[in-house]
Amino acid sequence: MEKTFVIIKPDAMERRLMGEIISIYEKKGLRISTLKITKPSLELARRHYQEHKDKPFFDELTAYLSRSELCAMIVEGKNAVAAVRKINGGTNPLEADAGTIRGRFGLSKTENSIHSSDSQEHAEEEIKLWFPEFQAD
Ligand code: TYD
Ligand code: MG
Repeated sequence: MEKTFVIIKPDAMERRLMGEIISIYEKKGLRISTLKITKPSLELARRHYQEHKDKPFFDELTAYLSRSELCAMIVEGKNAVAAVRKINGGTNPLEADAGTIRGRFGLSKTENSIHSSDSQEHAEEEIKLWFPEFQAD
């Protein structure tokens, strides 16, 4: 089964939306195979978003991601990468479809409730970064 990496971000965790968001994936037929609640270091947040290191929003984004607990997960299922991106919606909650996670729960471009990998290759890298103990099968 295809795997993707998902983060329920601090804004959603702070509002106690973790269960509701997990339920959305489960009802779509996806499976949460690994899950960890953690407050990451700023360094881990910066490594996670290293592709954006030269963007003007990088410092704000990484300070936000590391400000409180988040939920990091491996989500498995058919076409998991694309299926989860579709359920999450567009980056900016104001432009995301109203029924998506970001459309429903996102607060701003930065505090947009959810992250997921944009390719299988990035999913593999992000799983290694966040779950170094994880053994691929
Ligand atoms: P990006 O990879 O473009 O979006 P996505 O999460 O949909 O793959 O950007 C990564 C994160 O950076 C995004 O989830 C929220 C944040 N961000 C900002 O804070 N400001 C911005 O202007 C943009 C484009 C993104
Ligand atoms: Mg991205």
